[in-house]
Amino acid sequence: MNAVRIPRFGDSSVLELVQVPERDPGPGEVMVAVRFAGINPGEIPIREGRFGGEPPFGQGSDFAGDVVGVGAGVTAWHVGDEVIGMSDERSAQADYVTIAADRLVAKPDALHWDVAGSLYVVGTTAVAAVDAVAPRTGETVVVAGAAGGVGVLAAQLAARAGARVIGTASEANHAALRDLGIEPVAYGDGVADRIRELAPGGVDAFIDTYGSGNVDLAFDLGVDAARIETIIDFAAGSRGVKTIGMSAVADPAAAVALVADLLTRGGVTLPIKARYPIDAVATAYDALAERQGLGKIVLQVGSGA
Ligand SMILES: NC(=O)c1ccc[n+]([C@@H]2O[C@H](COP(=O)([O-])OP(=O)(O)OC[C@H]3O[C@@H](n4cnc5c(N)ncnc54)[C@H](OP(=O)(O)O)[C@@H]3O)[C@@H](O)[C@H]2O)c1
Repeated sequence: MNAVRIPRFGDSSVLELVQVPERDPGPGEVMVAVRFAGINPGEIPIREGRFGGEPPFGQGSDFAGDVVGVGAGVTAWHVGDEVIGMSDERSAQADYVTIAADRLVAKPDALHWDVAGSLYVVGTTAVAAVDAVAPRTGETVVVAGAAGGVGVLAAQLAARAGARVIGTASEANHAALRDLGIEPVAYGDGVADRIRELAPGGVDAFIDTYGSGNVDLAFDLGVDAARIETIIDFAAGSRGVKTIGMSAVADPAAAVALVADLLTRGGVTLPIKARYPIDAVATAYDALAERQGLGKIVLQVGSGA
C-alpha cells in the first residue's frame, strides 16, 4: 500500500509516499481502507524533530474509511462498516490503517467523507476545551482563533451551550463566522478594546486555540483564571489557567460521535478549507503551516468519497 513516511527530520520536502506492506488485523484490531486523512499543526514540530524520536515514522492521526478486515474477538465492527478513526501510531496517512477496534466511531451516513476524515482530533479537542470552561446560558465566551479547525468547532459548541460567543479571526473569515452564529472580531493591536466594545458587561470565559499572548488578553479582559482554557500555551498553566487537551477526554469515541451527530443534524459545521491528494502531502502541510483560513485541510486517499 501507499503510505506517507518521514524518512528523516526536516521541512515538508522530506515527506515521501512509499510502498509498505499492509498489516492484517490481529486480535482486537480492525483494518480500514482510508478515504480521507486529516492533517494537524501538531504534526509539523514532530516532523521537524522538536519532539525527538528516531525516524522513519509514518504520519497522521485522524482518518475515515471502510472496514475491510476484523481481527479475532472484534464484534463491534464488520466488513463494509463506514468509520471515523484515530491512529495513535501516526499511521493514518496511508491506503490502509490497522488499528485497535476502540479507536473507531461509526460514520453517520450523511456526514461528508472529507469532514469525517478530519474530525477526530479537532472534535475531541473542541469538546475538551468547551467542557474546561463550562459555558452557561447568557454568558459571554471569547474563542481566540475561532476560524481554525478546533476554534470553529469550540465556538459553535459554546454557542450551543447557550453562550454568546465572540471569536477572534481575520476579516476574511468574519462573514462565515457570523453565519455560524459567532460574533467575529479582528485579532491584533486593539483587540481588547474591540472586545470590550462588543461586551461592555464583561467576558465570562475564554478559550485560546492559538497561543501567542491570548492568555494575557483573557486576563486583561478580567476573566478568572479558572475560566480561561488554552490548548496550546502550556506554560500558562503555572498562572492557574486550564490547559486541557484531547488526551484528557475520558471517552473520546463518545465525544467524536457527539460532534459527528451535531454535524449531521445541521447544528454545527466543520468547513473544509482545502483538499489535497495524498501525493501532494508536502504542499498540504505548507498550506497548513500558513495558519490562515476557515476550518480544515484534508488529504484524499485513494478515490476519496
Ligand atoms: N492540546 C491539544 O490536545 C491540542 C489538540 C489539537 C490541536 N492543538 C493545538 O491547537 C492549535 C489549534 O489547532 P487547529 O487545528 O485549530 O489549528 P489551525 O486550524 O491550523 O488554526 C489556524 C487558525 O489560526 C488562526 N490564527 C492565525 N493567527 C492567529 C492569531 N494571531 N490569533 C488568533 N487566531 C489566529 C487563523 O485564523 P484567521 O484565518 O482568521 O487568521 C486560522 O483559522 C494548534 O497549535 C494545535 O497544535 C492542541
